[in-house]
Amino acid sequence: MGFRHKDIIALKDLTKEEIELLLNTADSLDEINRRDIKKVPTLRGRTVVNLFYEASTRTRTSFEIAAKRLSCDTVNITASTSSVTKGETLSDTANNILAMKPDIIVMRHSISGAHEYLAKRVSCSVINAGDGAHEHPSQGLLDMLTMRQKYGRIEGLKVAIVGDITHSRVARSNIYGLTTMGAQVFLAGPPTMMPVGIERLGNVTVCKDMREAVDRADVVMMLRIQLERQGKTLLPSMREYARYFGLNPEVLKLAKPGAIVMHPGPINRGVEMSSYVADCDQSYILKQVSNGVAIRMAMLYHVCGGEPAEG
Ligand code: CP
Repeated sequence: MGFRHKDIIALKDLTKEEIELLLNTADSLDEINRRDIKKVPTLRGRTVVNLFYEASTRTRTSFEIAAKRLSCDTVNITASTSSVTKGETLSDTANNILAMKPDIIVMRHSISGAHEYLAKRVSCSVINAGDGAHEHPSQGLLDMLTMRQKYGRIEGLKVAIVGDITHSRVARSNIYGLTTMGAQVFLAGPPTMMPVGIERLGNVTVCKDMREAVDRADVVMMLRIQLERQGKTLLPSMREYARYFGLNPEVLKLAKPGAIVMHPGPINRGVEMSSYVADCDQSYILKQVSNGVAIRMAMLYHVCGGEPAEG
């Protein structure tokens, strides 16, 4: 089966077979990341523009590394040091970049739906590196890759997602991806950070507290509090949040023995989880980051049609 999409905007748009194809491709491309010389000519001659309107460490860096390992030429544009600061619109910025003939624009933007708007107007591929509180498909894919590597499957896993569900594009992409792949998703978070009707997204259960979500879970995924997206204070205090929704060794014991702990980063240590949990043997947080390179290689490869370079 081939990949039929020009763009990757949301995991909501992908079928189970398409997600499996991306995960399988990432698993096989990951072999390149373990070589001494980590470069293949597969996408030689392609140009990737990383256009980031929001801060990023993991996503931007790993898209750049992924592109370079496949021999793409890469250019990074950060809004804060570009003509966006002079008032240039997204449309004008995109048209000016397009005039330089890129093959793929990887974009992060604070507005939900910005990528859909852009993808409809440009001929090159658009990959969503995070749009507002909507989706973060590469994060959802690398999270599923990490779970599949640990358990050999995604179907039937109990995945607890805890924290600021309302403002989390990571939660939304994981909910769509995991339920498409047959996992059971249990959500917990402060009522002020739990969207009404979220259960309607699929096989999703909203729990009354964190312990219920973590109980017998295979995966405990903690989310970052998105203070930058919260228009008003939604919490009495960080201390209170850590007490009721922070992961500590005692709560982690409720999960299945050997359950894995995940977090998309950056972690607020002592808030979303204790440092002990973040650094314990059950923590797969750095494994997630490593998998981010492989999954982004697979995304770049498939939006380019999956064709090997000639010559
Ligand atoms: N997980 C994630 O999106 O991290 P960055 O914001 O550092 O890219």
